[in-house]
Order: sequence, then structure tokens, then C-alpha cells
Amino acid sequence: MITVFGSINIDLVTTTARLPRPGETVPGSEYRLIPGGKGANQALAARRAGAVVKMIGAVGDDDMAATALAELDAGGVDLSGVQRRGKTTGMAVITVDDHAENTIVLSPGANAKLAATDLQEDAIGAGDTLLLQMEVPFAETLAAARTAKAAGARVILSIAPFLPVEREAFADIDMILVNETEAGDLARHLGLNPGSTGAETVAKLARELKRTVIATLGADGAVAATLDDTISVPALKVVPVDTTGAGDTFCGVLAALLDEGADLATAMRHASVAGSLACAKAGAQPSFPLREAIELSLGVDPAFP
Ligand code: RIB
Repeated sequence: MITVFGSINIDLVTTTARLPRPGETVPGSEYRLIPGGKGANQALAARRAGAVVKMIGAVGDDDMAATALAELDAGGVDLSGVQRRGKTTGMAVITVDDHAENTIVLSPGANAKLAATDLQEDAIGAGDTLLLQMEVPFAETLAAARTAKAAGARVILSIAPFLPVEREAFADIDMILVNETEAGDLARHLGLNPGSTGAETVAKLARELKRTVIATLGADGAVAATLDDTISVPALKVVPVDTTGAGDTFCGVLAALLDEGADLATAMRHASVAGSLACAKAGAQPSFPLREAIELSLGVDPAFP
């Protein structure tokens, strides 16, 4: 079973030909309200990949809460660990341009009130997986990691959005997920020179932190460095429409495959394909693929033997 301890947002999304410069106003499309949040996104991606998933998170006492939870509910994610805290649900204001690039400004709302005590000790056990991100208070995230590790669970941390994490904070983390930019930022923060490639950077991070580090590399796929191995997987070739939530899809699907007992290379192939498929449709959660679509793409693309 996978437990996600993390954020639940409503995404207010507008598209525009190009992103505005500071101080500039540009014309945009009709806005859309789409369920999002890195925690909720990863939970849904894992669920659609076939995992049993429980969400521990918080929404506000407002009209946005029901919309924020709609896809999770419809997808069959266990929402019994979602609390009502304060007035507002977290909101991400997202702008997407014609090249599928985005900017995101996040108002945390209820996410700021999530506490590690919301993860009941008997809710996670040996052999389960805890999936964490950086959109709820970090001290609570670390405390949740401690609880899960003590219970014998696998603990995966996606360092998104990037915050400078100290070495000691990784004590209860088994696996670290980053994108290429976050990998470089983390390396610099730890006093390492990032490598000239993503593979070099994750290898340095894995050696330094003595745990598996995986980086998504956009159109170049993903790379993992374990203590004794490097695994690279390609991306699927798609025409990108909106990359929002593609990284979350990778994290959720990777966790789902590892939780069901797949080896790391198999989990990464599935996660990479799923992340690519998520770029081919607008919005975060509406774009996440079902397991059948992932398997289908893996079966037909010769880049994935
Ligand atoms: O990773 C994408 C997510 O980041 C969006 O859904 C938005 O809510 C922000 O949290």
C-alpha cells in the first residue's frame, strides 16, 4: 500500500502565447479550475498505475475543497486521512505558454496546517511505501518519514519544489527524486560540483548521501544512481502540450511499481512513459495515464525493449 503525505491544491490554469515578463500583462485564455497539488497528483498517478493509495492531506473549509478532491475520489484514492483545516484550500496559479512551459505561484492554504500526527502510526506498516514532497511543512514531512521508517516502510522523497535540504534530513529517506535542475541545486547546496550531465550529478549525490537518487531529464528520460549501479531510461516521444504534473506522474508511478515488487529498472521504464504521456494533455490530474495506457506504450515503442 502507498500512503501519500502531502499537498492538495486547486490549480487555476490560464494559457497564453508567451509567459509575461516581470511587470507585463499578456492576454490569456479562459481560466480552468483543475485538481492538483504535488501530493494529490502523485497519489492519483500511483492509483491509476494500479496501487492501493491513501492520501494524508488537508483542504480548507471553502468551495474549492470538493473540486480539489474530485479526481482523487473518482479514482478510488482513500480520502479518510484528509482533514479540513482553516478557511482556504491550497491554490496554485498556473500559466502555460505555447511551448508547454509553465510558471506556478502557490498559495498553501490548508496545506500549511498538515501535521505528522495526521499520519496515524497504525496507518503504515512494514512493506508499505510513504511518498513525500515539499509542499507541506518540512518538519512535519520529516516526522512522517520517521514514523514510516520506524514501521518498516519504504520512504520516497520528491524534492519538489526545491528547498535546501541538509544531509541529516535524509536519515529516514530511502530514495530521493529530483528533476535535473533540482539535482544541480541539491548538489551545490551540499557543496558538490554538479556533473556535466544529469547522470554524473545523481551519481555524485548518491555517493554523498549513500542512498538511491533518481532524476527526471525531460525529453531525455530519467536516470537513477544506486550505490553500485546507474540505470538510464528514455522518454516516450510525444508532442508536449502541458508539462504540469509530469514529474508528479513519474514519482507516483515509480512508487506504484516499486510497491508491487518491480525492480528499479522496470519501475523507471513505466514511470518515464507515464510522465511522457502526462505531457501530451492539458492540466495535471486529467492528463495522468491509466496502467493499460502505460503498458500499451511500453509495448509498442522500440525504445523500450
Ligand atoms: O507539480 C505540479 C503541481 O504543482 C500542480 O498541480 C500545482 O498544484 C503545484 O503544486
